[in-house]
Amino acid sequence: MNNILVINSSVSGEASVSRFLVGDVVQRMLEINPNAEVTYRDLNETPIPHLTSTTVAGIRAVAETQAELAAETLSNELIAELKAADVVVMGAPMYNFSIPSSLRNWFDHVLRPRVTFAYGAGGVQGLLSSDISVIVIESRGGLYSEGPTQAMDFQEPYLKTLLGFIGITDVTFIHAEKIGSGPEARELAIETAKSRIEEVVAALVW
Ligand SMILES: Cc1cc2nc3c(=O)[nH]c(=O)nc-3n(C[C@H](O)[C@H](O)[C@H](O)COP(=O)(O)O)c2cc1C
Repeated sequence: MNNILVINSSVSGEASVSRFLVGDVVQRMLEINPNAEVTYRDLNETPIPHLTSTTVAGIRAVAETQAELAAETLSNELIAELKAADVVVMGAPMYNFSIPSSLRNWFDHVLRPRVTFAYGAGGVQGLLSSDISVIVIESRGGLYSEGPTQAMDFQEPYLKTLLGFIGITDVTFIHAEKIGSGPEARELAIETAKSRIEEVVAALVW
């Protein structure tokens, strides 16, 4: 049985490009493997709390109060979902040159010392399986994969670092760019991303 974890973070509902493309990835994967189990994590519908002194105490120290224990439980649940996944399909729109804060909150609950990463003699070590594959859909209003705005892309390098830090290095980024340049550019971006999705899903080993 293969497990797919789907994480969406766009605030734009039905109009969201990343949600549409994430759906396309999952549909193609299910065509190949109809028995795969799909777990959905919608960070807009069910937001993960921001870090506070309480949530940090629950996640990174010894949880004692009810609120701290609740934070620890949520973190455990998110990490268990991730560990159970063979493939993660992540919708990550660019917001203010980086990722949505809802997705950042997810990472804040998933990056945990001694649970998903550890410091040893050789430096930091990611503790999650390198067998987990991640496909990230990056929707962007502008163009960042080339040209002068490349230096303003704090989305893709950041996601690569966060995932790599916990041991996940098999990460494929699929772009849908220039979404803000009118309907034709939007359509072209979606079609280009769909072609890339077809290739990426066909090449997946899972
Ligand atoms: C709050 C917010 C911030 C945004 N910031 C940027 C940005 O910094 N750069 C950019 O190119 N587009 C930006 N956009 C445009 C989105 O990246 C674009 O609309 C993309 O399609 C969003 O993904 P979605 O359609 O899945 O919601 C922003 C949109 C929103 C709502």
